[in-house]
Amino acid sequence: MQNRIMITGAGSGLGREIALRWAREGWRLALADVNEAGLRETLELCRAVGGDGFVQRCDVRDYSQLTALAQACDEKLGGIDVIVNNAGVASGGFFAELSLEDWDWQIAVNLMGVVKGCKAFLPLLERSRGRIINIASMAALMQGPGMSNYNVAKAGVLALSESLLVELRQVEVAVHVVCPSFFQTNLLDSFRGPDPAMKAQVGKLLEGSPISAAQIAEHIHRQVAAGEFLILPHEAGRQAWQLKRQAPERLYDEMAEMAVKMRAKAQSR
Ligand SMILES: NC(=O)c1ccc[n+]([C@@H]2O[C@H](COP(=O)([O-])OP(=O)(O)OC[C@H]3O[C@@H](n4cnc5c(N)ncnc54)[C@H](O)[C@@H]3O)[C@@H](O)[C@H]2O)c1
Repeated sequence: MQNRIMITGAGSGLGREIALRWAREGWRLALADVNEAGLRETLELCRAVGGDGFVQRCDVRDYSQLTALAQACDEKLGGIDVIVNNAGVASGGFFAELSLEDWDWQIAVNLMGVVKGCKAFLPLLERSRGRIINIASMAALMQGPGMSNYNVAKAGVLALSESLLVELRQVEVAVHVVCPSFFQTNLLDSFRGPDPAMKAQVGKLLEGSPISAAQIAEHIHRQVAAGEFLILPHEAGRQAWQLKRQAPERLYDEMAEMAVKMRAKAQSR
């Protein structure tokens, strides 16, 4: 029976809600984050709904911390059945203004953090014939303006997930990738970018979401059980993805118009 799950970025937002969703089914949890207070809170909430486990500080940029986490899962839970590479940070800014340091930081957390998570846990997952759930974003599919480094990191997570889907089938490790549109969490706290005003624009997008992190966790739980690879929790996201596949040029036109408006807004301040 599979009942052990590891989640990165579990101290807040979607990671916490995923922990709670699986905890309600009595799963044993390995909760990792750089936010230790948040982690402790998540574990307490999970215990109240029927889950249990342990927390461990882990910066997903550091491979040795991820292998130490995998070892702790082996020692404390006897292995792992599901990993959720969820830890992530927000960024924004037009390509011309983004620094190379902005790029390095974004890729190190949002892309290489997932690569390292998959690599550190693969031996345990092969043993349990487990599953990987990678949290990407609609940015992986749509490439909106003013967030090229985030788009590239998330598109990389999607490409990695597709690569693993086909490579790991023969060792019976399942793979899923989740691409949500914006939703309200503490993601804005991590925002980094050359134009602070863009942070406010991203904040408005997060607030405007029709669905909550808890609803997204519920959707992921259902779609994983159904064996879905590409999980798109937002209805508007599913429609936009369909439009892009049918008429990409129309979408590029819309995005280009959006870029002009964003630039005008930034210059008017
Ligand atoms: N909120 C959205 O609109 C949205 C949309 C699409 C995708 N996502 C993705 O969902 C995931 C979860 O984000 P969220 O919205 O719940 O935000 P959040 O900020 O509430 O949670 C992210 C967690 O990741 C942790 N984290 C950040 N850097 C880390 C690192 N180097 N090592 C370990 N942990 C680290 C943070 O401490 C935080 O607890 C992210 O990958 C994000 O890109 C979010």
